[in-house]
Amino acid sequence: MSDDSIRVALVTGAARGIGRGVALRLLRDGWAVVVGDIDEVIGQDTVEELARFGAVEFVELDVTDESSVVSCIERIEEDFGQLNGLVNNAGIADPDSGPVEQLSLEEWNRRITTNLTGAFLLSKHAIPLLRESGGSIVNMASTRAIQSEAHTEAYAASKGGLVALTHALAISLGPTIRVNAVSPGWIDTRPSPQQHGDPLRAIDHDQHAVGRVGQPDDIAALVAFLLGNDAGFITGQNLVADGGMTRQMIYVE
Ligand code: NAI
Repeated sequence: MSDDSIRVALVTGAARGIGRGVALRLLRDGWAVVVGDIDEVIGQDTVEELARFGAVEFVELDVTDESSVVSCIERIEEDFGQLNGLVNNAGIADPDSGPVEQLSLEEWNRRITTNLTGAFLLSKHAIPLLRESGGSIVNMASTRAIQSEAHTEAYAASKGGLVALTHALAISLGPTIRVNAVSPGWIDTRPSPQQHGDPLRAIDHDQHAVGRVGQPDDIAALVAFLLGNDAGFITGQNLVADGGMTRQMIYVE
């Protein structure tokens, strides 16, 4: 039986960027958070910084390695005895893999394995704990699942696959476990001193219908909502948070 007085979330790829923002938001909302990341050095630093907001621990995790995934889930079971939320955020975030004629199978596999297979492995092994708690999964997709720039085949395919995996899991795992995806647009993940020291151009912000590029907090708020009980009637969905970019007609005048 899971303890209703605490909620435990695993956020993969939370050493930095959007994942770190999600971890911080969940801690502020009272969740205990496990930061699972392949980068132990930055991951440990992040956990030290976040510790003043609540119960947070680092677990070294390679989402592409099934034995690493199994160990991570076992560790959560030992330390907390339960898991209420899984955020499959870890990914190779750079979409550019060069011209497709020169894209090696190795590079293609690297992106698909990290961005898509990783979410499958984590979901597969988290299911028993999530069933017990009636928990929920959020997958970090991208607006690149539904639109593209040139030279982004592997990334776009990985995120399109993640959106499809989301609805397949939602149907298989309901009614106990809800599964949704979030598709961020452009999110400035640089630390704030860097954002102030080297600001984006006015046009970067102005091209968005909301007048600005996104921040990790924008995505974290949506993830927190989807993990929580207020989203109890929402599953299998892909929610876009992109400042309106995917809603603009861009024909040249
Ligand atoms: P980031 O590169 O700042 O952070 C990614 C994190 O994932 C890092 O901490 C990294 O160590 C970790 N990671 C990478 N491979 C891993 C593995 N095999 N196992 C465990 N951890 C691993 O990236 P960012 O920008 O924060 O992106 C996070 C997620 O959001 C990614 O899935 C990305 O595709 C997605 N996204 C990001 C957007 C953006 O504008 N920043 C837009 C749309 C989607």
